[in-house]
Amino acid sequence: MTVRLGDTAPDFSATSTEGPIRFHEWIGDDWAILFSHPKDFTPVCTTELGAVAKLKPEFDKRGVKVLGLSVDGVEDHEGWSRDIEATQGVALNFPLIADKDRSVSEAYDMIHPNAEATQTVRSVFVIDNNKKIRLSLTYPASTGRNFDEILRVVDSLKLTSTNSVATPANWKHGDDVIILAALSDEQAKEKFPDGWRAERPYLRYVPDPSAREGSPA
Ligand code: BEZ
Repeated sequence: MTVRLGDTAPDFSATSTEGPIRFHEWIGDDWAILFSHPKDFTPVCTTELGAVAKLKPEFDKRGVKVLGLSVDGVEDHEGWSRDIEATQGVALNFPLIADKDRSVSEAYDMIHPNAEATQTVRSVFVIDNNKKIRLSLTYPASTGRNFDEILRVVDSLKLTSTNSVATPANWKHGDDVIILAALSDEQAKEKFPDGWRAERPYLRYVPDPSAREGSPA
């Protein structure tokens, strides 16, 4: 099944390192990140899970739950968790799904047979509090993901959901943002009474509205 932006995230029940999970119920009113790993006891995945565990306080601050997935069983996950703690200096602090029957991987199209027949690729889905898919990323098994980038996208998604702005290339929290092109200058004056810097009529910058509160989202 293809899962596209704006679709409702497929719901599922699964076994995890923190017990059974019913996905939509588990998300509750928060946002969620679901990300897949090709296989347990593999080097790149080990570093990725350590990286996410270290960033967990940042995801918590933004009201985002994190959920990993690998197609091996819970016993393997538990043995691997001990390795992750020993080598990455941080214990797994979020659930890891044991998708032995690959039902979740298939529902989210995480197996790309022309890349690898039985293992998942490195997928990431950001899901909002309405259970809608807001971002999907696919990386090959050989390339570890940049989870700072996932945090950056969450900041952009949350900011642009509640303000009439978009974020430019390489934007990060605190940088100037762009007034939506769909907003006329008259409409923009109402929303941004302090004005803007226009480099072109369609390229109008204002300060990051979320920077006033100090921390992201
Ligand atoms: C890894 O996590 O290191 C890995 C997993 C599957 C294929 C290649 C690398």
